Parts: sequence; structure tokens; C-alpha cells
Amino acid sequence: MTTPLLEVSDLSVGLRAGGVAYDIVRNVSLTVDQNEILAIVGESGCGKSLTALSILQLHASPPLQITGGSVVYGGSDLVRKTKKEMRGIRGSEIAMIFQDPMSALDPMFTIGSVLVSAVRAHQDVSKDVAEKIALEALADAGIEDPRRRFAEYPFQLSGGVSQRAMIALALVNSPKLIIADEPTTALDVTVQAQILDRLRALKNERGMSIMLITHNLGVVASVADRMAVMYAGEVVEMGAVSDVFAKPQHPYTTGLLGAVPRLGAGASDLVPIPGRVPQPDELPAGCTFADRCSRVVDSCRATRPDITVRGRVQVRCFNPVS
Ligand SMILES: Nc1ncnc2c1ncn2[C@@H]1O[C@H](COP(=O)(O)OP(=O)(O)OP(=O)(O)O)[C@@H](O)[C@H]1O
Ligand SMILES: [Mg+2]
Repeated sequence: MTTPLLEVSDLSVGLRAGGVAYDIVRNVSLTVDQNEILAIVGESGCGKSLTALSILQLHASPPLQITGGSVVYGGSDLVRKTKKEMRGIRGSEIAMIFQDPMSALDPMFTIGSVLVSAVRAHQDVSKDVAEKIALEALADAGIEDPRRRFAEYPFQLSGGVSQRAMIALALVNSPKLIIADEPTTALDVTVQAQILDRLRALKNERGMSIMLITHNLGVVASVADRMAVMYAGEVVEMGAVSDVFAKPQHPYTTGLLGAVPRLGAGASDLVPIPGRVPQPDELPAGCTFADRCSRVVDSCRATRPDITVRGRVQVRCFNPVS
């Protein structure tokens, strides 16, 4: 077995403020291998973004803090790194693409100057060389006429071009891993498809790995190699996309797949999951999905299930769909 590029083990992240103490992300374990796309899916509020942010120590701390576990990258635990060490890793080793490019790009600076400063923050190169790297990254991100975009300000870019500029910003220092948090949610479907194609091509051309957070199971099916399904701060199912789609085992995964529209199916074939995700401060004692689950048994309400290996997939459930 080869060593994974990133190994998150038993990671918990919680709120600790003013006498309040509860965990939001709970005992998350996952790996990202070299040259693969791992998708993280789950309904809104399941802790996908917080998991991603805490990997890079970008969570709002305080009031949030990592309360347990490790994030091993390149042989060392990122949880134990200093702020300065993390600044060295962010961008150059692991880069993040955020959902909303407009709030991530500073309106006062041209795209070119943002990219050049990002290059020079990590690489000891002249301004000319940094410009060349920045222009290449814009082209690599699929931007036509990079020279023109280089001189433009964020407000001059369309949503699709801004998102590509964010990808370019993530690429300038050739990271080994990109964490993309809903990189295409705000875009129309055509542009969404182009951006995802670009990410997939970059994975192949550069041998990079991508952790892709998305709500969209169609996106998962078309671009990801493996997937982790999150529910109420926990990973409830994880495995190869082909295995999970062919035979989902956690009732939540079955529910998510049942809520996806299919061509030719009527609206009545769409089965929404009843109820809602519990808030992190109101989690039940047993399985967090028990109240919404059609397969609930007594033990689900009494004890929290561990994640266990079933065939090629890992599942956190006492009564999985077999
Ligand atoms: N700074 C914070 N302080 C307190 N609670 C927070 C903070 N950030 C996130 N949370 C809580 O953590 C939980 C998980 O949030 P997170 O943003 O990770 O969800 P998500 O799965 O990314 O959802 P979405 O799909 O909507 O982006 C939510 O209940 C949220 O309210
Ligand atoms: Mg999110």
C-alpha cells in the first residue's frame, strides 16, 4: 500500500466559548491518495466546509478549535504546526478554492498583481518570472487571453472567469493537493461543466489530488474517484464512487441518491429525505440519522455506531442496506 497524500484521523472540531462546548465535526477519518479526486458530499450544515477549513487551520479560532485527531501531510501532523509553518504549507503544498470568488479576490488589486504576490510569497523569483508563472496558471485554469485578464480587476470578470482566476491562484505554486469547496455552485451548468473538466484535466496533467466538496451527486459521479458522505459532522459512508453508487449501504446515502432527479423519471419518483439535519448542539445520543431513518432499530437510539468496513466500503450504521 502506498502512503496517502493526506490522512485525516479521528478529527473533531468543536465550539468552545462562553461555557458552551460541543463538537461540530466528529471523529472524521479520511484519506486523499496521490492523483485522485475525493468528493465530500452531504446536506447543508453537515460540516463539509468546517472539515476542509480545519485541515488547513483556517477555521475561525476562537470560538472553534480542533478538539482531537490528526491531519498527517508529508509525514507530519498539521494540527501541531505553528501559524507560520501553516502559512508555508497553505498555497504551496495544499491550496484551497472557495465557493465565492468575489469575496476571496481583493477588489483593489488586478488579477495579475494578486497572482504575482501569491507566487512571490512562496517562490524566490523575479517579478518577470512570477508574471510568467501567473500567466501560465491563468492559461492552465482555462482562461482565454490571459494577458488581458492579468490587467483586469475582479469586478470586470464574469462568474465563470472569476472562478477560473481562483483556480489559477490555487495553481501558481503547484500544490500537490487542492481543496475545492463548492467551486461551481454559483455558476450556470455549462460553465460548471467546463470548470469541472478543467479540474479533472489538471489532476491528470499535473498528477495532483483534489478534495472536492459538493452538494451535487451528478458532479461526484462524473469527476470523483472516491467519495465520503457526511452527515451531522460525521463521515457515514466512504468508498469508491462506483461502489457507493452501485450499492449504497448507509440509509442516508440511499436517501441522497433517491433525492437526485433522473432523466425520464417523474417528479413523484423523487424521494426527499424527511426531516432535517440536527444542529450540532442537539445531537441525539445514538445514531445522528436515527430520527430520519427508515431502517432504524433499537440499538440506533441507544449507541452511536462506529464506522466499520463492509466489503470495499466503510459505513457507520447498525442496520445497513445489504
Ligand atoms: N464560526 C462558527 N461558529 C459556530 N458554528 C459554526 C461556525 N462555522 C460553522 N459552524 C457550524 O458548523 C456546522 C457545519 O457547518 P459547515 O459550514 O461546515 O457546513 P457545510 O456542510 O459546509 O454546509 P453547506 O453545504 O451549507 O456549505 C453548522 O451547523 C454551522 O452552523
Ligand atoms: Mg460549506
